[in-house]
Amino acid sequence: MSRREANTKGRCVTLHMVSSLDGFIAKKDNTVAWLDSPGSVYEAGVSISEEEAATFVKAIDCYVLGSRTYEHALELGWPYGDTPAVVVTGRKLPPTRKSVEFYSGDLKTLVEVQLAQRYRNIWLVGGAMLSQRFLSLGLVDEIKLTIAPVLLGEGLRLFGGSLTEERWNLKNVVAYKNGFVELSYQSWL
Ligand SMILES: NC(=O)c1ccc[n+]([C@@H]2O[C@H](COP(=O)([O-])OP(=O)(O)OC[C@H]3O[C@@H](n4cnc5c(N)ncnc54)[C@H](OP(=O)(O)O)[C@@H]3O)[C@@H](O)[C@H]2O)c1
Repeated sequence: MSRREANTKGRCVTLHMVSSLDGFIAKKDNTVAWLDSPGSVYEAGVSISEEEAATFVKAIDCYVLGSRTYEHALELGWPYGDTPAVVVTGRKLPPTRKSVEFYSGDLKTLVEVQLAQRYRNIWLVGGAMLSQRFLSLGLVDEIKLTIAPVLLGEGLRLFGGSLTEERWNLKNVVAYKNGFVELSYQSWL
């Protein structure tokens, strides 16, 4: 099934990540202060209210994440509320929250059979390893990449070099007052 056919059937997988200007999604020491807003720095930018953000998040049916992202999210404070979340892992991890289920196996089956039957708006929220697997299998319909106004110099690369050339269609750009820029792309396929 092509991504366009999948879309006509209703499901959409959005890869959402925040990257530094130089393409890193995590620092070596895993600290996240670089993700904090530097304050209002870009006058022409927009800002969104908490209500708008909450409405947006409410429309997400399901999150998918790799086990390392899951473990880090638990350490930092679970950010996905009670929205269903699927953690991809080959390990037997202890259950932590009712909304979380673990998956091990073929990723195409996960998306095209298991998730597509239950959810429409599916968000893949990292990390780099799982995102690259999804992209190389053609399982991502949209990419939402938020660029933070910071150079990190080193860390974990979002697109670590395992991908092949593929064009994406720019759908939207939003520049925020805090200097972050969100780029939205749709698959051509
Ligand atoms: N800036 C951002 O927007 C952002 C977003 C998300 C995460 N992050 C950061 O990224 C880091 C984690 O990323 P990561 O690339 O190291 O790891 P990851 O993608 O979160 O998780 C990798 C793990 O997922 C499991 N996995 C991946 N593909 C699989 C498959 N096909 N079948 C079964 N299991 C599979 C494996 O788990 P097992 O080893 O358990 O088998 C693998 O070790 C963290 O520091 C996190 O905070 C940043």
